[in-house]
Amino acid sequence: MSNITLKVNGKAHAVDVDLSTPLLYVLRNDVGVQGPRFGCGLGQCGACTVIIKGEAVRSCTRPVSSVQGAEITTLEGLSQNGVLHPLQQAWIDEQVPQCGFCQNGQILTAKVLLDKNPNPTDAQIRQGMANTLCRCMTYYRIQAAIKRAAKVTA
Ligand code: FES
Ligand code: FES
Repeated sequence: MSNITLKVNGKAHAVDVDLSTPLLYVLRNDVGVQGPRFGCGLGQCGACTVIIKGEAVRSCTRPVSSVQGAEITTLEGLSQNGVLHPLQQAWIDEQVPQCGFCQNGQILTAKVLLDKNPNPTDAQIRQGMANTLCRCMTYYRIQAAIKRAAKVTA
């Protein structure tokens, strides 16, 4: 076990962990955030997504040792001072989730997409979201919500 400090949603968290532990486990069990979910544990579904250095990162396959000192943003970090991020509001307005399990990864992947391309086409949204899986097939509502948020953020 080793003492390390993680910076999550702007706050430093000291944790005592095995450095090979997946970041997802440390976030949920030691830091106490609930946004990132365990889906496949293999880097294939996106449920565990967090944002690091502007990229959507699958935390289930990322050793915690590799993210020391990096700013980690989870779903909990999107709202500011109680005000929802435009993507979160769009998700509500479009009533996107069904079971909800995948939606952490959908919203954070969409955030990275809009940060890089504030006004994406339908094709660019489909391409950007292609590897973030939803077994409830909410893909059309996800696309509508991203387009709605883009009108606010572009
Ligand atoms: S749980 Fe990490 S990609 Fe599926
Ligand atoms: S809303 Fe159920 S898996 Fe996506």
